[in-house]
Amino acid sequence: MDLGLKNKRAIVLAASKGLGKAAAESLAKEGCQLAICARNEDQLNQAKQALEALGVPVFARPVDVANSEALIQFLQQSNEQMGGVDILVTNAGGPPVKSFEETNEEEWHYWYEVTFMSVVHSIKTVLPYMKEQKWGRIINITSISVKAPVERLIYSNSLRLAVVGLAKTLSIEVGPFNITVNNVAPGYHLTDGLERIVKKRMEAGEQREDVFASWTQKIPLRRIGQPADLASLITFLASEQASYLTGATIQVDGGLYPGTL
Ligand SMILES: NC(=O)c1ccc[n+]([C@@H]2O[C@H](COP(=O)([O-])OP(=O)(O)OC[C@H]3O[C@@H](n4cnc5c(N)ncnc54)[C@H](OP(=O)(O)O)[C@@H]3O)[C@@H](O)[C@H]2O)c1
Repeated sequence: MDLGLKNKRAIVLAASKGLGKAAAESLAKEGCQLAICARNEDQLNQAKQALEALGVPVFARPVDVANSEALIQFLQQSNEQMGGVDILVTNAGGPPVKSFEETNEEEWHYWYEVTFMSVVHSIKTVLPYMKEQKWGRIINITSISVKAPVERLIYSNSLRLAVVGLAKTLSIEVGPFNITVNNVAPGYHLTDGLERIVKKRMEAGEQREDVFASWTQKIPLRRIGQPADLASLITFLASEQASYLTGATIQVDGGLYPGTL
């Protein structure tokens, strides 16, 4: 299948590692130019080099998506560097594992900025470019927590639903401009982010294999996902072939989500 992605211009946020990096790699393999960001400059540069080795130009800047000014500037610079923006993949680090009683107001505000407002700022900035060219793909990396709450992930379970509501509403507004807006909802994927959760549970006394077994036994496909599993869906959603698919939230979870729809 020709995905029609050659020479498309894609921004992937939080892309030096994990799911964001895998999305950037997959888009690069289809011939997309890229703009990527993350906070740690060394890791970002390593990712930039790895992506450039796939034969595409990569614009990379160290940016914390919680810093709206820096984020907007990065998005504007990406547009200038690439001569436009066709694809936006929003992403950020995930909120910590907490029960409601362990939360506090400061953290609620912080994770609201990271999880929701970074998506708002990003879309606000790139939308005029996409509207002008009457073509655009917006894909938000959320979590399976938007379909079914994950135990002790109260910030994720709450704040990510705002992204889903935003995406569905926006898909109606921007459909006439040939812009699609979708969310991907990953289940467990093997990344540094997931390893941090494993480490926490090991510190609380669990064995590594027991932590993984507690997840895989609930997953019909009986394995943890690889970042490339999610990246394949993101790449399809970014493609010409997905031009009639908008306003959707699609899980990639090995069948973990128990609902029928
Ligand atoms: N992996 C899973 O199983 C899974 C499942 C469901 C949902 N998710 C969600 O998917 C997202 C990505 O997860 P992941 O597993 O890929 O995480 P990861 O392995 O920790 O990678 C996160 C990436 O985002 C960057 N980043 C983190 N915070 C940032 C910020 N404030 N500004 C800019 N860049 C930032 C990191 O680089 P720096 O640290 O250098 O900034 C890194 O490149 C998270 O929101 C996570 O909760 C993951």
